[in-house]
Amino acid sequence: MSDQSKHVSIDNSGVDPQTNFSLNPTFAAIVDSRMARRNFLKGSVGAAVAAFIGGSLVGCSSDDDEPVAVVPPVTAAPLLGFTAIAAGRSDSIVVPEGYTARAFLPWGTPLTGSYPAFLADASNTGEDQEQQVGMHHDGMHFFPIDARSNGESSTEGLLVFNHEYIDNNLVHTNGIETVPRIADEARKEIAAHGVSVAHIQQQADSSWALVNNSPFNRRITGATPMELAGPVRGSANVVTKYSPDGSRTRGTLNNCGNGYTPWGTYLTCEENWAGYFVNTDADKPREHSRYGVSGSNGRYFWETATPTADQYQRFNASKVGADATEDYRNEPNTFGWIVEIDPFNPDSVPQKRTALGRFGHEGIIFGKLEEGKPVVLYSGDDSRYEYIYKFVSSAPYYKTTAGGHLLNDGTLYVARFNDDGSGEWLPLDINNTDFATKAAEAGVNFNDQADVLLNTRLAADISGATKMDRPEWGAVHPETGEVYFTLTNNSRRTEEQTDAANPRAANVTGHIIRWNERDTQAATTFDWDIFLLAGDVGTATPGTELTLTADNHLASPDGLWFDKNGLLWIQTDMSGSQQGEGPYGNNQMLVADPVTRNIKRFLVGPTDCEVTGISATPDMKTLFVNIQHPGDRSKPDNFTSHWPDGGNSRPRSATVIVTKDDGGVIGS
Ligand code: FEO
Ligand code: CA
Ligand code: CA
Ligand code: CA
Repeated sequence: MSDQSKHVSIDNSGVDPQTNFSLNPTFAAIVDSRMARRNFLKGSVGAAVAAFIGGSLVGCSSDDDEPVAVVPPVTAAPLLGFTAIAAGRSDSIVVPEGYTARAFLPWGTPLTGSYPAFLADASNTGEDQEQQVGMHHDGMHFFPIDARSNGESSTEGLLVFNHEYIDNNLVHTNGIETVPRIADEARKEIAAHGVSVAHIQQQADSSWALVNNSPFNRRITGATPMELAGPVRGSANVVTKYSPDGSRTRGTLNNCGNGYTPWGTYLTCEENWAGYFVNTDADKPREHSRYGVSGSNGRYFWETATPTADQYQRFNASKVGADATEDYRNEPNTFGWIVEIDPFNPDSVPQKRTALGRFGHEGIIFGKLEEGKPVVLYSGDDSRYEYIYKFVSSAPYYKTTAGGHLLNDGTLYVARFNDDGSGEWLPLDINNTDFATKAAEAGVNFNDQADVLLNTRLAADISGATKMDRPEWGAVHPETGEVYFTLTNNSRRTEEQTDAANPRAANVTGHIIRWNERDTQAATTFDWDIFLLAGDVGTATPGTELTLTADNHLASPDGLWFDKNGLLWIQTDMSGSQQGEGPYGNNQMLVADPVTRNIKRFLVGPTDCEVTGISATPDMKTLFVNIQHPGDRSKPDNFTSHWPDGGNSRPRSATVIVTKDDGGVIGS
């Protein structure tokens, strides 16, 4: 043991640091004018949603009053017919009566190559982990095996899911103990990050199984070669020793939420990536400082791994070489992006889509598609006082030619929520006169659009965007195109900082905001209101009839997803203390009717977990949900959960498969 070694104290809690100290305005308090806007939403969108939810075969077209055919829901049974479950604190998955939940593909499941077995004492090597399912499951999507044609298979497909981070107390037999780090431990931790692609099939008894030896099974990790695509590719600010022409990088990290494209590819989001790097230079570039790159050490000290190797030294972003081709001063600039992965081509190189901006991407969601119109995507930046963004492609969408090129060229906007219920999308475009004027007034110089995108947060600061209470997932109603976003919490917001869109000081329980674009999905103005204020029993959402009860009280909403029947699924990410001491029990999942605001608790997770990530088969009869970090407060010799294996076992993140015992539609 080196005498330089010391004990590592790794703080899992500080993964969403506040790094926005800009002075752009927060708005003064609310708000009677909000009522008029709410009525507007209720009258126009609400009615259309109601027709859809109710199973009507007609809906209203956008430009006249003629009824037009819309896709009917896949169930005739009334939705939300189940009995809500109680909040609770058992070390198990609880679902409503008539439903069954089974754990599937936990961390360490053999997935590729020689299919190395998971060892219960976590003594698997780095090489093993590269062939096993990663740790800390998060965003997820089920691609029907025929996704490139009909997309109708509900019995076979590719389940693609993120691995957000690692639990330093559980990933090795004795946890993470000393620095300098042991190289193979760092290799294992890097391999436990990233994305898994699993080819799965439903069995005769209705359970699901991995297709062993399928060529589709794949691990993408924190070390997988990737390309930079879009405006930042080739920029001087992404030149590294590994890629002197600034076209490539290695790996994706801290993959939180996800998205998927209409052309059958997966989008993974890089959230709290900044913490993985260190820059000890006295003067840090704004591309590092505005995102919180540490001056002392990377989160897991990978930069110290010995024996040393380029793949670990790259986490040191200090200037140690003569120029950028001789060190990794620019390595953090190759993170903070949305990454597109083609799960149907195991040899495909993941593409970092830089036109979508660089920040703490929580998730990404497409706006409603229209043939011949641009594609629209929404993404939130999950840190305190950060923003919500929208991308509008330059080229129009046509089903037959759509592909990743649509994500390489377009306009990135950031949201301003006005107190009167209106909103504006502010362009972050160096060629836009208004933006250029604001930059000049702020004394900020951008060299080109690549520089704007590398510094997306700074560009949003000077544009006058609204600082939000930690934007997490977004969801788009499949019929109306109405957009919902979770704002998970912000305990630091003061009374003076409250505004209509973030109306509560010391907001420890969070809320859900929603909006409607004016005219088309690509519009630059919108109308918004607050769908739900989260909190304890009795918490009311002003201007609505919603008051939370024991069937649906919740805190820290995070994951958000519309199923094809128009039900809104809400997942919570309460901290350990909020779960342990609050009135809400363990993290959970609820489901809401967006029109009536009827909300019921559907699932409660095991001890010290987070419920995050959700997808379903096209027939809505198999629901996939991820359980992240069960036993989050474990020590290497003291586990606070034994889910899913029971007994005295080590807790493992896993997917959960939920089915209805009568074979019916989930949520009915
Ligand atoms: Fe990874 Fe913002 O939750
Ligand atoms: Ca999340
Ligand atoms: Ca969260
Ligand atoms: Ca998490």
